[in-house]
Amino acid sequence: MGHLISSTSMLETARANGYGITAFNVHTLEMLQAVVEAAEEAQAPLILQTTVGTVKHLGPEYIVAAASVAAKTSSVPIALHLDHCTDYDLIVRCIRAGYTSVMIDASMHPFEENVRRTAEVVQVAKAAGVNVEAELGKVGGVEDDIVVEEEDARLADPKECVVFVERTGVPTFAPAIGTAHGIYKGEPNIAFHKLEQIFNSVQVPLVLHGGSGIPADQVKRCVSLGMAKMNVATELRIAFSDAIKHIFAQNPEENDPRKYMVPAKEAVKRLAIEKMQLTGCVGRANECKA
Ligand code: 13P
Repeated sequence: MGHLISSTSMLETARANGYGITAFNVHTLEMLQAVVEAAEEAQAPLILQTTVGTVKHLGPEYIVAAASVAAKTSSVPIALHLDHCTDYDLIVRCIRAGYTSVMIDASMHPFEENVRRTAEVVQVAKAAGVNVEAELGKVGGVEDDIVVEEEDARLADPKECVVFVERTGVPTFAPAIGTAHGIYKGEPNIAFHKLEQIFNSVQVPLVLHGGSGIPADQVKRCVSLGMAKMNVATELRIAFSDAIKHIFAQNPEENDPRKYMVPAKEAVKRLAIEKMQLTGCVGRANECKA
């Protein structure tokens, strides 16, 4: 198609048309290739994401290079997003390297400080044509180095959401509505009534964090209530790792990475297509091209 695009218009299109775009956290070249192949097969718009840990592990330049090749060689629109970053300098570094979307996560700070830090990033990103996502309330669970205990997780307040989006000018908004990062012990307890209030009073696309393990009917309900992006991380990691474990269980002597990476890639690809079907972005690639 060409180059990595900002996710702003992709997500606005998704919100306007009532579906969600799946955003996948990738940690290796093979995971990146797997979700790109999935998007290509499903003809779905795609958001590739990396956590701060993965940025430190691989380096933003390598990640941007691989994602740029994907954008160049595939027919679907692709954005590259930095997930849950608390560090302004790292955000700027990733924007300079070529990320087309960034999340400033200042949700652990008091409201005013969250507004200040988010607005600061919106200003610098806007000038570079890069999308910004920010969070209000606090999503529970573990995402890289960010650990939020169950008792510290906090739902977003719908009235505060309106003020937050207005004052920061953030183009993509992640309100905490009861989902969590990682695998749920039981079922998530999603505050649909709050989500509905937020959807009706905030005009920007909303983001559903903690996409792993949410039952299908609940994902669909969230999407129908304005969740235009769903993040999936843990389930992909599990699919990737389980496929490799399976190979080694059968053949402990295996020492050719290409042999165990192929089934791992295939497992990630299959799961990614399932998640795309769930949020309804299959076949939507063309209308999301910037
Ligand atoms: P899961 O690990 O639960 O899929 O959450 C992903 C996420 O929200 C990343 O920001």
